[in-house]
Amino acid sequence: MRAISPSLLAADFGNLQRECEMINASSAEYLHIDVMDGVFVPNSSFGLAVLEALRKKSGMFFDVHLMIMEPERYVEDFVKAGADIITVHIEACKDIEATIDKIHEMGVKAGLSIKPGTPVESLITYLDKVEMILMMSVEPGFGGQQFIPTTINKAIEIRNINQNITIEIDGGINAETAPLAVEAGVTVLVAGNYIFSAE
Ligand code: DX5
Ligand code: ZN
Repeated sequence: MRAISPSLLAADFGNLQRECEMINASSAEYLHIDVMDGVFVPNSSFGLAVLEALRKKSGMFFDVHLMIMEPERYVEDFVKAGADIITVHIEACKDIEATIDKIHEMGVKAGLSIKPGTPVESLITYLDKVEMILMMSVEPGFGGQQFIPTTINKAIEIRNINQNITIEIDGGINAETAPLAVEAGVTVLVAGNYIFSAE
């Protein structure tokens, strides 16, 4: 299945409910929610309270991208707040397998992500343990950056090893880069600025 996951990071934070309703009414299947801790990435965004509030207004599939150190500490809270899939960074986990297990035990799907500088090989042993791989096509932390083209090769590598896993791409996705990603076998396209700055 292919899906679009608009990134709420690019929404108007003063009108989150309205922005959320707009996405709800669109043909997008997921809502991408970027959580940052100011440590794993040099920025902060929104957290549990905002997710919880949005959950009351929206039945969309909440695609939660945790850009936080030791995400295992917060898995339970994010599931209770309404996450449908939790993606953690391989670079941020103390124990990757235990973190994946914890996400599954809480009854939601698990995703694993790598930053642009992390080799694709680091994901291979986990491919049959998670439902989704999230390829960062920009350095995590900020929206509106330029797409890093070598991410395409990484997506192709994963797709060649595993034909069924969901591959999501995040960062710099627009009308030019999206077709390249889909061609490489990506199934979920995250887009922030391209969607929220459009008319
Ligand atoms: C960056 C976030 C992205 C970001 C993408 O750390 O993970 O989800 O919102 O924004 P665009 O699509 O504008 O590059
Ligand atoms: Zn993201």
